[in-house]
Amino acid sequence: MHSSERKFDLSLTDKVIAATGPNAHPRLAQVMPSLVRHLHDFAREVNLTVDEWTTAIELINECGRMSNDRRNETQLLCDILGLETLVDEITANIVSSASVSGTSTPSAILGPFYRHDAPLLPNGSSIVKDLTPAVPWYEQAVADSAYITGRVLSHNPLFPDMPPTPLRNAIVDVWHTAPNGLYEQQDPSQPDMNLRGRFATDAEGRYAFYALRPVAYPIPDDGPAGKFLALLDRHPHRPGHIHFIVSATGHRTLTTQIFDDRDEYIEKDSVFAVKDDLVVHFEPREQDPQAKWTLNYEFVLEAGMMGL
Ligand code: BEZ
Ligand code: FE
Repeated sequence: MHSSERKFDLSLTDKVIAATGPNAHPRLAQVMPSLVRHLHDFAREVNLTVDEWTTAIELINECGRMSNDRRNETQLLCDILGLETLVDEITANIVSSASVSGTSTPSAILGPFYRHDAPLLPNGSSIVKDLTPAVPWYEQAVADSAYITGRVLSHNPLFPDMPPTPLRNAIVDVWHTAPNGLYEQQDPSQPDMNLRGRFATDAEGRYAFYALRPVAYPIPDDGPAGKFLALLDRHPHRPGHIHFIVSATGHRTLTTQIFDDRDEYIEKDSVFAVKDDLVVHFEPREQDPQAKWTLNYEFVLEAGMMGL
């Protein structure tokens, strides 16, 4: 029998919504009627049974039990459902006019592996620490060695026709995995703060550093989020990407990622974060013993959005 043919007491939904009191938190009072309606409609539409609901509750409980200050399984569950990407997009739409119209660099999700206080390094230095032939992924690191440079620019949405201008002293905070697909805090064999760094732009708005072309890696799939992916017959991989937080005084801070166009997962990111403007193409680099590849990428920040 289809759910629409079943008899449900539809007044239940209205009763739950009406139970909210006059002193409810204003934002909750605004959003809960919609949440309750969607939740009830969903349960009725799919004929959710008690057994299924119990299983879902246990999945969420298991996420909570597994989460700590080093791992956020509930966030991971949201990520594989596209919710972090959606909320990031909604937030960008609310706070920004320029990114919606395509003038400033699009944002992408932060992910769970950011660390504050990465070392502030001089432009032109390397974020690859202690690379020697003894490192298991040495050869791949050499093959993927890359010089990444570009400018940080300011766009003022009040003057949309003015070309973006270079920003001095913007901070480019960068992090990515080693060729084994692990961030340094996941991998005891990597030095502390490996493949992380912060760079301040020069008077021309320029930043530059040595890093590696990023590789695809599976998101942690040994917990309930991974179990859920397997039940959905989905893979856990993210396409190779490099994370950035770019900030400058008087500008909206940009959290984003760039994606290497060589990657086979570019069209099938397990957390749905890829955006066309963030897909980049590395070019071969000649006559540099430190890098086989190069990338030039400009970040455009939106002016006048302080503290956001
Ligand atoms: C990441 O890019 O680091 C990431 C994002 C979402 C879930 C897991 C990892
Ligand atoms: Fe990542």
